Amino acid sequence: MKLWSRAAMLAAMMMLAACRVSGEDNITQPANEAAAIAPILATPDANDIHSFARPLEARVHHVALDLAVDFDARRIGGTATLDIDRTPDAKEIILDDKGLEIQSVTDRSGEQLAWKVGARDANLGAPLAIALRPDTRRIVVRYKSAPDAEALQWLTPEQTAGKKHPYLFSQGQAILNRTWIPTQDSPGIRQSWKATIRVPAGLTAVMSAPRVAEPLTQGGESLFKFRMDNSVPPYLIAMAVGDLAFEPLGPRSGVWTEPAMLKAAAAELADTEKMIDAAEKLYGPYPWKRYDMLVLPPSFPFGGMENPNPTFLTPTFIAGDKSLVSLIAHELAHSWSGNLATNATWSNFWLNEGMTTYATTRIVEAIYGPKVAAQQIALGVDSLNDEIEELGGASAPDTRLHIDLKGRDPDDGLTEIPYEKGAAFLRTIEAAVGRERFDAYLKGWFERHKFQPVTSAIFLADLRRHLIKGDTALERKLMLDQWVYQAGLPANMVQPDRLAFADVDQAVAAFGRGAAPDAAAWSRWTTGERLRFLNKLPRKLPKARLDTLNQAFGLNGARNMEVRFAWLDLAVANRYDPAIPSLEQFLTTQGRRKFVRPLIEALAEDPGWGRPIAARIYPRGRPLYHPMVTRELDQLKLGS
Ligand code: BES
Ligand code: ZN
Repeated sequence: MKLWSRAAMLAAMMMLAACRVSGEDNITQPANEAAAIAPILATPDANDIHSFARPLEARVHHVALDLAVDFDARRIGGTATLDIDRTPDAKEIILDDKGLEIQSVTDRSGEQLAWKVGARDANLGAPLAIALRPDTRRIVVRYKSAPDAEALQWLTPEQTAGKKHPYLFSQGQAILNRTWIPTQDSPGIRQSWKATIRVPAGLTAVMSAPRVAEPLTQGGESLFKFRMDNSVPPYLIAMAVGDLAFEPLGPRSGVWTEPAMLKAAAAELADTEKMIDAAEKLYGPYPWKRYDMLVLPPSFPFGGMENPNPTFLTPTFIAGDKSLVSLIAHELAHSWSGNLATNATWSNFWLNEGMTTYATTRIVEAIYGPKVAAQQIALGVDSLNDEIEELGGASAPDTRLHIDLKGRDPDDGLTEIPYEKGAAFLRTIEAAVGRERFDAYLKGWFERHKFQPVTSAIFLADLRRHLIKGDTALERKLMLDQWVYQAGLPANMVQPDRLAFADVDQAVAAFGRGAAPDAAAWSRWTTGERLRFLNKLPRKLPKARLDTLNQAFGLNGARNMEVRFAWLDLAVANRYDPAIPSLEQFLTTQGRRKFVRPLIEALAEDPGWGRPIAARIYPRGRPLYHPMVTRELDQLKLGS
């Protein structure tokens, strides 16, 4: 029997006339999806092993935060008021909690409710069980976050661009929001939310939702109010506080950042409105009203995080020539794939990232042309092949799209597989049915699953019902189950354009034969071409050859952070001493996980040369790195 949360059931019944029930998808979809309480999926593949919640018994559907930000204590504290939906006989509701200091739990009339924090798991945190009375529909948790809450990074003024004010930001995905918000931290339990945030006067708070009032400053504090009316997976609740300024980019987009960064950020983001238009042509009207962005300090551990309104971005994408703005296309595409139709569990993460990676190149193609898009696809497939090798080859279980995360941290699934194998899968379907038909299908997918959790099984069923429609030849050709549930790359994978980098590949071959590096070609090349060149060079090169490269292309001083990383990666693999000052500067001025982690790990794994270098640099870089990055790198025992 299908189990529905009661309110979802009620809402569904009330709107029966407007309802479409799809037995196969296991979803009842009310007409007004955004306002209704999103259903909880009851199929086994939608069961979230990374949350303690038992949402079919009692689930949160709305969160109201009233919080103060205390920079001195490095804590956020106040109340979270949770509206819940429950079966009549539910005795308790289980929330996710990782290190919260709970002060009290009451119902709406202030009556105490019994609560208990269970045994702690290192990755998941602990269940917070709250006893429910027969009529409890709202609970109020009074609490504080711990000073070492993993979702939060507290920056000193020296760690910001302006050097005058402290800064705070949060990063929720995948399961970190439970360190500062007591709720059910599962992507399949969608929640609407609102927040009142108090910060020291003079600082500005932004959250991943529209502001609903003008900020109010009195008595040494400023008060900000936000409200997200759409239901969202709770990992999308995000906050940043600092000395922030805003500049509009177009009618429905703009950028927040520290004043010192504003001009450069706005210039780099000048194509944003065009991207929104291109994305809408593909996937339908933009569903989140505005698309604003926040450019964070260099500690931000990711390239970007698709928090709606604003998306969070690393400053390392600012290259001065818009050459890294496909990052924006990516985060924007998540407005559909991820934020509208959301992976129900972290094993289904590829549905968020694979669809988004596919859509990114489509948006890039629409704005920058097919050649740039083809190059991006080819670079993606290169990194996919490298990743498969690193994971242990084509039969390694972690090369499956639908990944087994039992007993593991969801971040273990954060490889190129969900991104690039996922995108390759969708390109393969596109090639088989034609672009027009696939575009129409994907638009329909988002329409059918908006504001809902989705699983691999739901996607495959939807493909069969709305695209394949019983065409057995097509079904055989697509190899759907192999793509999603088997390791490696299926034989029908559409390969990238072999000529996407024809010139560059010739230059790589020439360099391999001993030719001098071609500085004129390098200065002509796009960032994608430069990356292909550096990544395709033999991994072992003599010092003299590295010297000529470094001199001809100015690699130690490369201002494009992706190029710089590709170079430093090669340099470390070759114990190339002249790159050390550049490496040291790179690792102590930004904290992007994708850049920092492989370099520090490669150094640490080389006891004869790299490890002492890492032991010197890591303690210097560490204060800048986000807790999720230091948590991983501390395991290398480099000292801090
Ligand atoms: N949603 C991800 C970032 C993420 C994934 C954070 C999983 C935590 C857990 C974001 O959209 C992303 O994919 N960022 C990439 C950007 C890219 C592929 C253009 C990044 O940060 O490198
Ligand atoms: Zn992404």
